[in-house]
Amino acid sequence: MYFYQMKKHQISCELHEHSASELNGEQQDLLEEAHTVCEGAYAPYSKFKVGATLTLENKQKVSGSNQENVAYPSGLCAERVAIFHAGANFPNKKIERMAIVAHANFDLSKPVMPCGACRQAIMEYEQRQGSPIEILLQGNEVNIFVSKRVANLLPYAFQCDELKKG
Ligand code: THU
Repeated sequence: MYFYQMKKHQISCELHEHSASELNGEQQDLLEEAHTVCEGAYAPYSKFKVGATLTLENKQKVSGSNQENVAYPSGLCAERVAIFHAGANFPNKKIERMAIVAHANFDLSKPVMPCGACRQAIMEYEQRQGSPIEILLQGNEVNIFVSKRVANLLPYAFQCDELKKG
């Protein structure tokens, strides 16, 4: 006879909610830049605009906005537009933080969280550089949610060391 003992594994996700005035100047600048770039998003199908701005270790900023396509899956989220641009053009510069904002034509009562695919993509940059990427999130006129690292937003992430062998 076999006895199985069920074990519960639980991981918590830590987010810090701040008013804009509680953030430092650099964080406020980054959010402002993300709001500006958000307005330039190409989102004629969803009408849901997202802007993402990141800072590199040399304080240079890189931005992206969501780019949709009539063949829907061909579009790309703002976060990946920004981080892939940074990876392609500044491969040796660490990313310190990323501000992500959304503008919708309805009330966003809480900040929009990055989708799973973007969390997975950003997470790999965090792992490669060996230092945390802070994430700042803001919707329409609401408080800012801060995650000190991306790993915190993606518990049980796919990280297959086997794929790196060979
Ligand atoms: N979108 C982003 O840009 N980032 C996310 O993390 C979630 C969703 C975009 C994709 C699409 O253009 C629109 O928002 C609606 O899903």
